[in-house]
Amino acid sequence: MQKLIVNGGQRLRGELALQGSKNSALPIMAAALLSGEECVLKNCPKLTDVFAASRILNCVGCKCTFSGNTAVISSENVSENTIPEELMREMRSSIIFLGAMLGRTGECTVCCPGGCELGPRPIDMHLAALKKMGADIKESFGRIICRVPGRAHGARISLPFPSVGATENIILCAVTAEGETVINNAAREPEICDLCGFLRACGAEISGDGESRIVISGKDRLHGCEYSIMPDRIAGATYLCMTAAAGGEIILTNACVQAMEPFLSVLEQTGCSIYTTENRIFLRSGSRLKAVSDRIRTMPHPGFPTDAQAVIMSALVTADGTSVFEENIFDCRYRHTDALVKMGADIQVLGKIAVIKGVEKLYGANVEATDLRGGAAMVSAALAAEGKTEISGISHIDRGYEKVEEAVRRLGGSIKRV
Ligand code: EPZ
Repeated sequence: MQKLIVNGGQRLRGELALQGSKNSALPIMAAALLSGEECVLKNCPKLTDVFAASRILNCVGCKCTFSGNTAVISSENVSENTIPEELMREMRSSIIFLGAMLGRTGECTVCCPGGCELGPRPIDMHLAALKKMGADIKESFGRIICRVPGRAHGARISLPFPSVGATENIILCAVTAEGETVINNAAREPEICDLCGFLRACGAEISGDGESRIVISGKDRLHGCEYSIMPDRIAGATYLCMTAAAGGEIILTNACVQAMEPFLSVLEQTGCSIYTTENRIFLRSGSRLKAVSDRIRTMPHPGFPTDAQAVIMSALVTADGTSVFEENIFDCRYRHTDALVKMGADIQVLGKIAVIKGVEKLYGANVEATDLRGGAAMVSAALAAEGKTEISGISHIDRGYEKVEEAVRRLGGSIKRV
């Protein structure tokens, strides 16, 4: 079992190029299935979730290979319609292959992705939408068998909640469906725009992505392309929070500044100095941070991103004053608070509210990561803490952060993987 050993108390200082976005790479890898040709993905992050997605592609008959941060996916012959249970279990977001498989072969069998460390992860909106597009869906013994007699057809779909995954699955099925699909109350996350940018490069006809109403006109065929994946806005938020927590200064290069605005507008309330150009972010954290006076409410984009909740909390636990969080997206996304309290933080969790009373100092402790962003928050808190912290369960962190210890060491942090 690997661990990260962090010796905190040092200020950070350095420059970091942002990795490609995990939450953009995964749906784009599924979308590559639809082209029937070769797609070259640049700026593809090397993450365990990305490797899991490549195993799914290879399992259904595609050929997915990597050289550095470039993935090459050939999808000439998709021969298999079932995604094996063990691959589904490895990564719950593999449900994103459902829409692409239906769009490509008209058939797909997956298993219920099951809950995850953030609470139940239902897919009712995904299935209801695909049914409206002509899919016949049977659920038995935890397996979901989807079949579209003939070809999927366009539909007008209003999502009860702007679900990122449901929006992506609808788009993936609609781009080669018969006729037009309209999605109302669509998710507006930047990764949706990136997925649509990739699909347009493959010849798809999509408009309105980034807004709440997306219109897709189905095409008979798509083609291969070369595309560069957008930078990871949550990894960016993470390294900025690490620097804010430990003190110091950082320059993030090839950052997606506009996509990070909802997060940056809260971070600057802590008193950090933040300067941005079109694709670079400079942050300096000098003295003790200030608590954020307005409640930090996680909301669908362009609200404050739920994926940045844990990491900004890791910076606020030693701020001067009290900050209040309201987690509105997932049912149990405060599991990292146990570890922060063990390191000396003063946090009260009441349902979806978390009250953070700033303390003077954190102290190193042995903690265990329980989810991806919570694990990143522990690294951040450990860098600010006095003494040594041992973090286990780091496979969670490796799902979304490319070589996290190398990035932290580049910033001057004392960290090693054992
Ligand atoms: C995506 O998950 C991201 N994952 C998550 O990032 C992110 O936290 C989330 O969007 C919200 O931004 C990927 O892109 C791979 P949702 P997704 O569907 O698509 C409920 C990370 O740390 N819901 O927008 O699963 C659901 O239970 C990960 O990188 C239904 O009820 O998120 C949740 O409460 C974590 N029924 C809420 O909607 C459905 O059919 C938001 O889920 C679908 C979702």
